[in-house]
Amino acid sequence: MKAPKFATAILLAASMSSYSVWAADAVQGNADAARAKNSMCIGCHGIPGYKASFPSVYSVPMISGQSQKYLENALLAYKKGDRAHPTMRGIAAGLSEQDMADLAAYYSMAPAGAGK
Ligand code: HEC
Repeated sequence: MKAPKFATAILLAASMSSYSVWAADAVQGNADAARAKNSMCIGCHGIPGYKASFPSVYSVPMISGQSQKYLENALLAYKKGDRAHPTMRGIAAGLSEQDMADLAAYYSMAPAGAGK
């Protein structure tokens, strides 16, 4: 009776620890690395008043100063299709999870309202 319970506890502990290792490795954002990745974001998220005029005038939300987790989740949602905006879906489709984590780290550290 005791052995199966013990085995279950070992399995549970093993799966939990491998999960946290994975999370720490894969989702750690590096703001410095994002500097080489954000050139295309600036075109839209860097316009004063946060408006883009192509193909029609639409509002671009401010992303600098928002929480890192929020930004990362937003990019992931575009990539997965949970968020439907076609432009951001297209952009997020080309980003890896590491890119998203880096960009989220970068923008969360940028001063709010910096227009980046
Ligand atoms: C062609 C213009 C354009 C470019 C380029 C662009 N974005 Fe966006 N972005 C938008 C628009 C418009 C929205 C609002 C979409 C919506 O309503 O869902 C948006 C939304 C977002 C959001 C969600 C903000 C929120 O408050 O929910 C994030 C995060 C984001 N963009 C990050 C980025 C990053 C990072 C890049 C560069 C890799 C980038 N964007 C490039 C136009 C752009």
